Amino acid sequence: MTDRLIIFDTTLRDGEQSPGASMTREDKLRIAKQLERLRVDVIEAGFAASSNGDFKAVKSIANTIKDATVCSLARANDRDISRAAEALAGAKSKRIHTFIATSALHMEKKLRMTPEQVHEQAKLSVRFARQFTDDVEFSPEDGYRSEPDFLCRVLEAAIAEGATTINIPDTVGYAVPELYGEFLRMLRQRVPNSDKAVWSVHCHNDLGMAVANSLAGVMLGGARQVECTINGLGERAGNCSLEEVVMAVRTRRDFFDLDVGIDTTQIVPASKLVAGITGFAVQPNKAVVGANAFAHASGIHQDGVLKARDTYEIMRAEDVGWSANKIVLGKLSGRNAFRQRVNDLAIPLESETELNAAFAAFKELADRKSEIFDEDIQSLFSDEAVTPHDEHFKLISMMQKSETGERPHARIVFSIGHAEVSAESDGNGPVDASLKAIESLVNSGCELLLYSVNAITTGTEAQGEVTVRLSRAGRIVNGTGADPDIIAASAKAYLNALNKLYMTGERLNPQTSAAR
Ligand code: KIV
Ligand code: ZN
Repeated sequence: MTDRLIIFDTTLRDGEQSPGASMTREDKLRIAKQLERLRVDVIEAGFAASSNGDFKAVKSIANTIKDATVCSLARANDRDISRAAEALAGAKSKRIHTFIATSALHMEKKLRMTPEQVHEQAKLSVRFARQFTDDVEFSPEDGYRSEPDFLCRVLEAAIAEGATTINIPDTVGYAVPELYGEFLRMLRQRVPNSDKAVWSVHCHNDLGMAVANSLAGVMLGGARQVECTINGLGERAGNCSLEEVVMAVRTRRDFFDLDVGIDTTQIVPASKLVAGITGFAVQPNKAVVGANAFAHASGIHQDGVLKARDTYEIMRAEDVGWSANKIVLGKLSGRNAFRQRVNDLAIPLESETELNAAFAAFKELADRKSEIFDEDIQSLFSDEAVTPHDEHFKLISMMQKSETGERPHARIVFSIGHAEVSAESDGNGPVDASLKAIESLVNSGCELLLYSVNAITTGTEAQGEVTVRLSRAGRIVNGTGADPDIIAASAKAYLNALNKLYMTGERLNPQTSAAR
C-alpha cells in the first residue's frame, strides 16, 4: 500500500521569522485560507506566546480553518504551551508543537541548561501539552547536530509522554542528504518506541540542500511528514520549499511511491500571494513557481515542445496553477466578469466591501492601462486600498518634476492618522525626492536596507511593483506598492513599510530566546 506524506506548512511561523517578512493578522489569515485551498495537512499558524499579535493571528486562523490541522509552536515551558492551547481552543483540529534545543552547543551556550534538565523539560512539556490535545509534536532543536545517545533518550521520553510526531530539525542547514537520511534511519531504529510516532523532517537551506535533505529523510530515513514553506521562505537561506518537494514526489511517483493530498493547481496562486504579501520576489529561474519555470526561449526547445510537449517538459504548467490565458480584462469589463476572474484566480474575498473596493481600484487601473493581466488583479488584492489594515500613513496625491540638468523635486500629500499633510523635497532622482519628502515629516529614523522595482507584467505599460525594506532599532519590515507610475508605487511601498513598523509590536524569536 502506498504511504501518505503529510505536508506541514510553516510559512506563517518559520517563514515569517525571515527578516522583513513579518505579516499582519489579516495577511496571515489570507495566506492560511490559501493553504487550506492548497490542501496542506497542517498549518503552523505562528508562535502564540511570542506576542499579542501572533496570539491573535493563531486564534483567528484556528477559528477559521476547517480542512487542515492548525498548529502553534511553543517553547518547552508551561506558559508557552498554555498560550498555544488558548489560541488553538477554537480549532476543529489542533496541534501543539513544542521544542527545546538538544545539541551540546545550544544547551550550554543558549539555554544554559544541563542535558538532564533538558531531558526533564522535554518530558514535562510533552506531558503538559497532552492535557490540551492528543496531537502533540516534539522537536529537538538543532537535532541534527545533537549527540545521538542523548537525543535517543530525549525522543524516547517524548514519545513515552505522548508525542505523536517527532520532528528532526536541521536548524542550521548543515546536513547533506545521505547523512541526514541515515541519521533519521538510525534514530528510528534505536528509539525503542519509535513506531508510536510519525517522524518528520525540518530542513533549512543554508547550503541549498533543504529539499534534497528532506527527501532523503523521507526515502532513507522513513519520515512521513515534511515541514516546508511556500517559496522556501524562512530564516537566512530559508526552509525546504513546499512546491519543490510536492512536485518532486508527484512527478517522480515511480520512485517515491507516496501520496500527497495537495491540490497542485493552487501552488502558483499561493506562491504569488506569499510573494506579494511579504515583498520577497520569486527569482525567475526558481523551480515550479519562477516566471521562467515553463518558458522555452531557445528555438530548439520551442520547436520540440510544439511537436511533443514532453520533449522538454516534465510537468504541465497548468497542473501547478499557471494560467494559459493571461490577458483577461479591460476597461469595459463589468463587475461580474471581474468577480469571475477573482474566483478563477482563487483570491479569497473577505466581503462584498472588499470586492467593491477592488473593482473600483480595477476600474481606475483600467483607465490608465489598456490590458489588465492576472498579475495586475492579484496585485490589487495586496494593495492597502483594497485590504486596508490600520493604515496610519496613506498616500493621497503626489507630483514630481525632473528635468535634464535640474535637481528633481517632489511634492507629496498623505495622511497621518486623520490629518492630511503635505511635504516637499529635492532628491537625486524623483524616487529619492519623494521618499525624502515623506521622511521630512515622519522622521522615522529608519535605515533603508533595500529598494527594488519589478515589472508585474511585460511591456512599458506594466505596473511597477516596488519593495522597500526598512530597519529601525533591530526591527526589519518590508513594504510593497504597485502602480503604473513607479514613483507612486515607491511612495506607496514606503508608506506601507512605515505602517508595519508603527503597527506591529515587539515579538520573540523562538530560536533566539531561551526555554524558560
Ligand atoms: O529550525 C528549527 O529548529 C525550528 C524548530 C523550532 C522546529 O524551526
Ligand atoms: Zn526552522
